Amino acid sequence: MNNFADLTTQNDVAIITINNPPVNALSPGVPQALVAALATAEKDPAVRAIVVIGGGRTFIAGADIKELELAASGRGSGPPDFHRILASIEDTSKPVVMAIHGTALGGGNEVAMAGHYRVAAPGAQIGQPEVNLGIIPGAEGTQRLPRLVGVAAAVDLCVSGKPIRAPEALKLGLIDRLIEGDLLAGAVAFAREIADRGGAPRKTRELNDKLGSEFVDASIFSAGRDQARKTRRNMLAPLKAVDAIEAAVNLPFDEGCKRERELFEECIASDQARALIHAFFAERAVAKIPDIPKDTAVYNIRQVAIIGAGTMGGGIAMACANAGLPVLLKEVEQAALDRGLATIRKNYENSVKKGRFSQEIMDQRMALIHPQLTYDGFDQADAIIEAAFESMELKKRIFGEIDKIAKPDCVLASNTSSLDIDQIAAVTSRPGMVIGLHFFSPANVMRLLEIVRGKATGKEVVATALAFAKKLGKVGVVVGNCPGFVGNRMLLPYMREAQFLVEEGATPEQVDRALTNFGMAMGIFAVDDMAGVDVGYRVHQEYKHLEKPGARLPLVLEKLFHLGRYGQKTGAGWYRYDENRKPTADPEVHALIEKTAREAGIERRAITDDEIVERSMYVMINEAAKILEEGYALRAADVDVVYLTGYGFPAHRGGPMWFADTVGLKKVRDRIAEFQAQHGDAWKPAPLLDKLADQGETFASWDAQHDAAREQAAAMV
Ligand code: 3HC
Repeated sequence: MNNFADLTTQNDVAIITINNPPVNALSPGVPQALVAALATAEKDPAVRAIVVIGGGRTFIAGADIKELELAASGRGSGPPDFHRILASIEDTSKPVVMAIHGTALGGGNEVAMAGHYRVAAPGAQIGQPEVNLGIIPGAEGTQRLPRLVGVAAAVDLCVSGKPIRAPEALKLGLIDRLIEGDLLAGAVAFAREIADRGGAPRKTRELNDKLGSEFVDASIFSAGRDQARKTRRNMLAPLKAVDAIEAAVNLPFDEGCKRERELFEECIASDQARALIHAFFAERAVAKIPDIPKDTAVYNIRQVAIIGAGTMGGGIAMACANAGLPVLLKEVEQAALDRGLATIRKNYENSVKKGRFSQEIMDQRMALIHPQLTYDGFDQADAIIEAAFESMELKKRIFGEIDKIAKPDCVLASNTSSLDIDQIAAVTSRPGMVIGLHFFSPANVMRLLEIVRGKATGKEVVATALAFAKKLGKVGVVVGNCPGFVGNRMLLPYMREAQFLVEEGATPEQVDRALTNFGMAMGIFAVDDMAGVDVGYRVHQEYKHLEKPGARLPLVLEKLFHLGRYGQKTGAGWYRYDENRKPTADPEVHALIEKTAREAGIERRAITDDEIVERSMYVMINEAAKILEEGYALRAADVDVVYLTGYGFPAHRGGPMWFADTVGLKKVRDRIAEFQAQHGDAWKPAPLLDKLADQGETFASWDAQHDAAREQAAAMV
């Protein structure tokens, strides 16, 4: 029998410990066990108050997302209707004190709010992150939260999905006391104080004084909806969350709960919820590498050394310092080092100005970064990350040098975005210690870390890189060593197709608008201007040899490059920029495109936004199918994670492969075949896509089959 809720007593206080590792999710049986334990404690005449606490590392981290996944895909009923469960917690005649450590998220916070009082460890995090899964709080969170923290804070918490720390929760009234030191002892003492006070326990559902007035609330709801539309573009759930909180204000509690449930059901049945739940599990699956067991030994990275203080090196140094790791930052010239450090300082200062963290934290982080012109101290580093200019010759020289200095168990990493990691490893005496760590700019912000596994890279080194990514708060995706790895290999055809579209009749603004309307964080031409047209041009040149003879090549990029229109940094690229880097459409670029097309004999026509989105997305999906078949990505879901965390792909579409599945692979393949007929063999459907389309399969089913086969193979070893 499971023991989801363990009941013990300390004299007059009952203690219920929730046990459902790893995160005490409210899986089937857990809420019921909690209610049963409460009933037992209530009946015990010796008990005057009850403390509920999480066993292990956390309080309750929410409803069981696996149950939500089943409900979203129509295969299960989803989380239970919590109404009766929460009512029985709240109706307990003896005071119930919820003791929170780790996280109280979603259903976890909703259970906590049904308790009469809440205490928390200072580091605890509390929130309603449901919007990240495409749903709204479905266990009366939208009804109890505004009663505790007020309407404005409730709207903010539910729309942003961001958890808050316990001290902030105390200020808002979400918790009643911070407990420094032993949480359980503090909670028991608090429970006794409440019992001593006597009187009926305080029921959250009966607190109405923070619900505000119709007049004030109307402006909060309208601001909340604006916030939702701005920060969660095209997403349903945040708007529904505001609707539900509005119901808390306008309806009696029980009716408000019913309204919340209706809105929750609407969300869980949506494509957006399915996509976001897929993204949640995909992000966690990437760390599971079939031939690298979870318990693989890892090197402890305590000291990092970085070569190159440019944009990438500086960003990586900040990412390390933000995680509390000391960094040696090396440059070849004092001027470059000064420039690099000044940029780091400016970035931190901006964060302090925006209130993201205090000056004190900034000073601590700056103190962790040691600028230098020599390799001094590199012999003590646990990881050396080379972030020099993208040149094979240079990288080989650097790796030759560090091979002589680094201690034997030092991880040697290159931040190359495209070069062959095996060739780099080959110049060292220890190719097993060499790995690619491809950070994305700005490296202190972007969550993706492509971990490039060379043919000699040791398993411990891969496991170390995954642990390192986690330590930096990033998502490490292990990819194979092919030109462009996964992300940039897909980006290249995407970029090329966008240029073909403008040659054929679209404008850069139309392409970008169609893509941002689809949900991309930025249009591809805006990205090109930000990254630098010169950089894009050089990358195209570098990969030219991979093109099939006679393949169509884009024509305009080269012309922009030769005109010195490098993008934002020169004030002009695909767009024209003012001094604040605000883009406007540029008639000169339009004229250049039209002239180029005319000279090349390309007939221009009106192009629809649908065609723009289809060609841009399908060209990436086709490339990704090749990547999968060639084994450079383990799963289609890994490709999704790369695009969701590194390339601004809209989360509510689940990533490019999930998006393809939702369109239907047959439809995608058939459209690709039409493009092949119109534009040539670069559009030939990838064999894997062809096969899955013919078999009526999806990329998700391909993943499931492959994961199962790998697990079976691992079990046989
Ligand atoms: N349900 C099911 N499994 C969960 C889960 C949940 N709510 N939260 C985490 N897990 C699983 C993960 O899938 C992972 O499983 P794995 O080891 O098999 O891959 C394991 O728990 C550990 O998770 P992490 O690797 O993410 O561990 P971290 O320590 O890095 O993070 C966490 C812990 C902050 C709790 C993070 O897991 C998290 O954010 N979880 C989701 C929280 C959430 O969204 N809660 C709301 C759920 S929706 C809800 O409650 C609806 C309600 O209103 C009705």
